Amino acid sequence: MGKVISIANQKGGVGKTTTAINLASCLAVAEKKTLIVDIDPQGNATSGLGRNKMNSKGVYHALISGNFYPDLIINTDLEYLYISPSSPELAGAEAELFSLENRERRLSIALSTIENNFEYIFIDCPPSLGFLTINALAASHSVLIPIQCEYYSLEGVTDLLKILDEVKKYLNPALEIEGILLTMYDERTNLSKQVVEEIRDVFKNKVYDTIIPRNVTIAEAPSFGKPVILYNIKSKGAQAYLNFAKEFLTK
Ligand SMILES: Nc1ncnc2c1ncn2[C@@H]1O[C@H](COP(=O)(O)OP(=O)(O)OP(=O)(O)O)[C@@H](O)[C@H]1O
Ligand SMILES: [Mg+2]
Repeated sequence: MGKVISIANQKGGVGKTTTAINLASCLAVAEKKTLIVDIDPQGNATSGLGRNKMNSKGVYHALISGNFYPDLIINTDLEYLYISPSSPELAGAEAELFSLENRERRLSIALSTIENNFEYIFIDCPPSLGFLTINALAASHSVLIPIQCEYYSLEGVTDLLKILDEVKKYLNPALEIEGILLTMYDERTNLSKQVVEEIRDVFKNKVYDTIIPRNVTIAEAPSFGKPVILYNIKSKGAQAYLNFAKEFLTK
């Protein structure tokens, strides 16, 4: 059975999309058939994998129709990696969903038709806690939370945990925290070290051992439409995501 994992944190720019692209790519290289669902209207996972986010077909149509028709999923440069792209209509989807039946469960219903075609499905959430993120959480077995190693990084997480509790209570009792990934660690600063200590203190063994460093190659890769392992496998960033994928698979 496929495992569905939301990558969520309503704080912007913490490494959700970077983690979706790079974890999924590492798993695909290990021949795990993997799907990324780009439910963020910004479409960064779609463009970061070199696909056109202005195309007309994608996860928006799955949400509205309640079905993942085959043309809503496209291939990538990696044989085992697929994406259901973002598209311009997704920007209006929150408002449209509001008046639809099962508005919190549309994605869950659509995914149930294809869940078993993949080993892993990652949903790249937008930086908000609206209907798109709620749909993602309602459809997921677990949620992976990237946290940036910087001051204030814990602020949004409290609100996210509240939402997770609500989703568990009303929509998806089996939802778990998959793990917390520390991102953009800067080894030169004491602040990064302090934040790591603080987060480990609060979330204990939910925090992955692997820490993703701040690394310019990770930031450059999406502008070439590539995951970092295809852009420069020797970089520190690629090695970090490969290590993370190994840890992810053993946990
Ligand atoms: N480890 C890293 N080292 C350097 N830059 C990084 C790293 N991780 C992410 N970035 C860069 O930081 C920015 C934000 O990352 P990303 O888009 O993954 O965050 P996000 O949480 O998906 O953002 P949003 O909330 O807008 O969807 C991007 O420009 C990305 O390339
Ligand atoms: Mg993003």
